[in-house]
Amino acid sequence: MMHQTVIEISNLAKEIELAKGNLLQVLADISFEVKAGEFISIVGPSGSGKTTLLYCISSLLPPTNGEVLINGKSPYQWNPTKLAKFRRKEIGFIFQDFQLIPSLSAYDNLVLPGTLNRRKVKKQAVEELAARLELHAELHQSIDALSGGEQQKVAIGRTILADPDILFLDEPTSALDTHSRKLVMALLQELVAQGKTVVMVTHDLELAAQSSRALVMKDGQMLRMVEAPSLETLVF
Ligand SMILES: Nc1ncnc2c1ncn2[C@@H]1O[C@H](COP(=O)(O)OP(=O)(O)OP(=O)(O)O)[C@@H](O)[C@H]1O
Ligand SMILES: [Mg+2]
Repeated sequence: MMHQTVIEISNLAKEIELAKGNLLQVLADISFEVKAGEFISIVGPSGSGKTTLLYCISSLLPPTNGEVLINGKSPYQWNPTKLAKFRRKEIGFIFQDFQLIPSLSAYDNLVLPGTLNRRKVKKQAVEELAARLELHAELHQSIDALSGGEQQKVAIGRTILADPDILFLDEPTSALDTHSRKLVMALLQELVAQGKTVVMVTHDLELAAQSSRALVMKDGQMLRMVEAPSLETLVF
């Protein structure tokens, strides 16, 4: 079932109340679908609504209008317990600010989602992934002792080890150098080849050009969807 629709977004809008009676329209009338095994990127200028869109389509933030279906179901209609379980088991998220646990080691952060799911992540799997991310020397250091780039690699590793079917990534390479970006992109491409679905917000058009489709945002609107994007077709 390679081409089934995993995410279906119809006429999505998000308004945020800044003060009483003062509404900010952050997203307006966005519709698109993502199929299983697709690697879709979301690009656009700062403040165009990329993070808000990623939250809305991933079950983290209810839209004010429109519909979000993930695997044919509307997560916003579930009770908190079911929603929490879904977020823990079915999807993975990399936050723009990582959201690691600072007092724990890199290793303990990497295995945390497994622990929460009562599923022991094998030491060998952690070490192999850490080696792929060139993070092995830092595995037993506390998160506070790591650089921003190293912390971002831990955030990426944590999400991959949790083994979700759909990955939502907000600027997953923002703190990485060119070499590390390549390591991460290779890992993401492998996941996609295995049939996982990846939705990635990025400022980096070179990365977006490696995705299968790119959604271009501007001022809270979906400007266009670019098929098989390249650096030339992605200029916004
Ligand atoms: N909770 C909120 N309260 C007030 N304004 C918000 C809130 N969430 C988003 N916004 C505003 O909505 C707009 C879109 O924000 P968003 O974070 O989605 O943009 P972005 O494209 O991810 O930007 P960046 O590239 O800088 O990460 C911005 O103008 C932001 O200030
Ligand atoms: Mg953002």
